Amino acid sequence: MSAVVEPNPVQLEQPQLPNADPCVVVIFGATGDLTKRKLMPALCRLTDQGCLESVRVLGVGRSPMTDEEFQAQVRDALKESKKTDHLDEETWREFSERLHYMSGELDDKNTYQQVAERLKELAGEGASKNHIFYLATPPPLFSTIVKQLGEAGLNKEEDGHWSRIIIEKPFGRDLESAKALNATVAEVFKESQIYRIDHYLGKDTVQNILVFRFGNSMFEPIWNRNYVDYVEITAAESLGVGSRAGYYEGAGALRDMVANHLLQLLTLTAMEPPVAFDADNVREEKVQVLRSIRRLTPEQIAERSVRAQYGPGTIDGEKVKGYKEEEGVAAGSTTETYAAVEFNISNWRWSGVPFYVRTGKRLARQLTEIAVHLKRTPQALFARTPTEEIEPNVIVLRIQPNEGITVTFGAKRPGFEMVTNTVHMDFCYQSGFGVESPDAYEMLLLDVMQGDATLFIRSDEAEAQWRLITPIEEAWANQQIQALPHYDAGSDGPAEADDLPIGNGHHWRRLMETQAGCD
Ligand code: BG6
Repeated sequence: MSAVVEPNPVQLEQPQLPNADPCVVVIFGATGDLTKRKLMPALCRLTDQGCLESVRVLGVGRSPMTDEEFQAQVRDALKESKKTDHLDEETWREFSERLHYMSGELDDKNTYQQVAERLKELAGEGASKNHIFYLATPPPLFSTIVKQLGEAGLNKEEDGHWSRIIIEKPFGRDLESAKALNATVAEVFKESQIYRIDHYLGKDTVQNILVFRFGNSMFEPIWNRNYVDYVEITAAESLGVGSRAGYYEGAGALRDMVANHLLQLLTLTAMEPPVAFDADNVREEKVQVLRSIRRLTPEQIAERSVRAQYGPGTIDGEKVKGYKEEEGVAAGSTTETYAAVEFNISNWRWSGVPFYVRTGKRLARQLTEIAVHLKRTPQALFARTPTEEIEPNVIVLRIQPNEGITVTFGAKRPGFEMVTNTVHMDFCYQSGFGVESPDAYEMLLLDVMQGDATLFIRSDEAEAQWRLITPIEEAWANQQIQALPHYDAGSDGPAEADDLPIGNGHHWRRLMETQAGCD
């Protein structure tokens, strides 16, 4: 039963579109998957919206190619993306004119001299002398590229021109490697030049967590241990590992999702209000949350974390393979495709409130949400009624898909008896605003071009995340198990994961029962 709030579309005035500072975006890894699937569609859409008036792109990759060949490759990639598959000729012409390419080995210092020369040539043709270096390469190359950029002087900011670097995730694979990478980058770039990406922060619904909490006087007063029983953060995917086994086998769900995206969702849900919505203040508050999370001992890790791997199953009526049958996965692989962890934050606001996070591939459906479960009421008032029907309130922030917010509460069922039911109020982005959100990469690229680091990870934040995750990785490695618990593809995950919240009298929301009015 539901009491759906009628959508009342907000009449949006045509917003003033931001214009990026003039610059050249140099993409290392220009023929790679990330560039094709995310960066080029984002840059093309920004160009189409008129945000990139004086921006050019210089792709750097290993394969020798002319500018025209590179442009043809980009055009094919744009056709594959839902956001750009209907590109008209005029937009394509405008975008393609900005695309340049050069080939070179990324561990060869000559490549960087050539990049510097090419940037000078482009400046001679009217391009900006502001530069963004985007590391869209496999992570083992990050340090090499950073050092070489420094050797070639491309980190320098002279005559009022800026130089910025964007580093993709994963930023390290444990605390030690993240520290080493931070140290290398800090030798070459100042922190204000560095933009560490977590693309979840580019999602409108993720940024809305702060607006929801701090822009409305009705939620913040209850957002603490006095009212909140527990918090569930879910990032479920129905897709499998696809063609990324090469990377995923060495990562697993904990490193791939929990160490970054899920911890980011947790910090935004738990942080104190920043004094201003700017890079320093927002990031400082987020780091405070990470520092307040109790690190788990090996004994606690055994009780408060679960990992598992998907077996064959059925999703949307289609049979799908198990993880071990996927291309590129080792027959005896013990890489987890599902991870769940209970975190506890030791501060005044949250002490005693468990934050359960879970993520997995090949689960029943795609769903990313934060569910804040409020405490049960003392139900003496309804003593003569079937009180078990009054469920505690839940506030659900739906990150994707069907972006929106749902609040559940108890209501009296019409009739002569005092019988209650749980009903829900829904807000849906789609019907509420009637406009599509920009893709996360559009938002983040534009922010870098405008010099706004609020939605990027600070060096100490990256380390604070690993400080929590590395002990879990180590404890799991020490367990030296032969096989992981298994879950059927298309299910809610392993049975073992249910025990995690049940130990505290809590439970996970079922993935297939979480549909709201936006579905
Ligand atoms: C990436 C992970 O960072 O995020 C992928 O490496 C995952 O494994 C992806 O599929 C999920 O992102 P999104 O935006 O589709 O939720």
